[in-house]
Amino acid sequence: MQKEDNLKEIISHAKEYGFVFPSSEIYDGLSATYDYGQLGSELKNNIKAYWWKSMVQMHENIVGIDSAIFMHPTTWKASGHVDAFNDPLIDNKDSKKRYRADVLIEDHIEKIRQKIDKEVEKGLKRFGDAFNEAEFRATNPNVLRNAEKIKEIEDRMRETLENNDLEGVYQLIIDLEISCPLSGSKNWTEVRQFNLMFSTELGSVSGESAKIYLRPETAQGIFVNFLNVQKSGRMKIPFGIAQIGKAFRNEIVARQFIFRMREFEQMEMQFFVRPGEELKWYEYWKDIRIKWHKKLGLGDENYRFHDHIKLAHYANAASDIEFDFPMGFKELEGIHSRTDFDLKQHEEFSGKKLQYFDPEINENYVPYVIETSIGLDRMFLAVLSSSYKTEQLENDTERAVLSLPPALAPYKVAIMPLTRKDGLPEKAREIMDALKFDFNCQYDEKDSPGKRYRRQDAIGTPYCVMIDHQTLEDNTVTVRDRDTMKQDRVSVDALHAIIAEKVSLTHLLK
Ligand code: GAP
Repeated sequence: MQKEDNLKEIISHAKEYGFVFPSSEIYDGLSATYDYGQLGSELKNNIKAYWWKSMVQMHENIVGIDSAIFMHPTTWKASGHVDAFNDPLIDNKDSKKRYRADVLIEDHIEKIRQKIDKEVEKGLKRFGDAFNEAEFRATNPNVLRNAEKIKEIEDRMRETLENNDLEGVYQLIIDLEISCPLSGSKNWTEVRQFNLMFSTELGSVSGESAKIYLRPETAQGIFVNFLNVQKSGRMKIPFGIAQIGKAFRNEIVARQFIFRMREFEQMEMQFFVRPGEELKWYEYWKDIRIKWHKKLGLGDENYRFHDHIKLAHYANAASDIEFDFPMGFKELEGIHSRTDFDLKQHEEFSGKKLQYFDPEINENYVPYVIETSIGLDRMFLAVLSSSYKTEQLENDTERAVLSLPPALAPYKVAIMPLTRKDGLPEKAREIMDALKFDFNCQYDEKDSPGKRYRRQDAIGTPYCVMIDHQTLEDNTVTVRDRDTMKQDRVSVDALHAIIAEKVSLTHLLK
């Protein structure tokens, strides 16, 4: 299946089973805005719990907060967002479609990278077991030529973007002969800057109102509370402050389902460290975060690090964890060494000291910051897209299955009486009443067992428990595993332990 078709299938599956709906759909929806349905919100909550527990509960020196979406407008002047939170945009005159100029160039680079990968694949086919990929990449003329091309483009892109040389960015697009993916034409407008913050008015009386912004990142709510948390929590450096919350950006190109939205959710953590130690902690958090991802078992090959070419105005090192989404490798999480930029800016604009007295070295300083920032919606898409499969079964039928990490599955277990009579529903309810305190259970008595299993496979329920006539005789049930489809007969008394063993978050956190 083509990757784009795969995304279409995932979108339709997500809607059909209550994971994600287009927002205000009865009015034909609002572009790039989505609602999470009854199963989507469960999955989202479970992802949040995995992140929160692993960041806050598993680290004695990290605490969590929940700051307001609206903040004093000077916050955004200080952070640089009013002046510098821009994307370079370009329009195609024929399709009238608007693009981010840097994304067009990065997509072009990705195509060259794919050529290199194809060359490597050919080499592997030709030489088989004797193939030495590292040597091939270092010596093959086609690979080297394309690698050199990528370097040249990246260098030019970095230089023009860093110097805000919009004419230079335009010229790069022209020189690379990049055409509009929609119209195929190379008829471009000039490149312009576009601020991404949404604003609104505070106060209802005209003339007394002030312009405020919907926060474009949750991080600033952490920075402005640095001293409050440090003092009230008696925190000692190094320490972190985490938060999960909504962020808003007027994205030029909002597309690809929940990957790029105008209203989305972030899970961010700012880790405050002694100046000079930031790069050590930067490496530490890169390692911790990639392990957090890989623990989920979505496939190690689906992740890669991508070091930033253009560093944001606040960073002295930055890397993305990219995931192989249905539309290819794209940013899932950012890990940034933000220096003391934010706290210093807030000191300057607020006139308040935001410093820490370090008793170990007897010094006052503005801490440096390492940030880990992951989009919850992108994480949702990573989990959903890598878990969705259609499988051919022995009896010539097909099943759609979401092989979600069990700890993230919306329902952990489906409780099914074989028939709706003979006291089986009552027994099933009794079992569910015992399990529901610890596991999200779904009761399902409609249709044949086969159809019910298919329904649970499609929403990723790890276990189905079938209550039959034998249950009434010997208090045993069959437990069906979503992935192997194997059924085992077990005692009702053993059910809790069997389910807990598979679905507990503890395995992921250890
Ligand atoms: N505080 C740093 C910061 O906000 P960012 O790279 O702009 O950095 C962090 O955003 C993460 O937020 C990204 O890695 C991505 O997962 C998510 N994100 C950013 N813009 C998004 C959007 N428009 N829709 C969905 N997720 C987004």
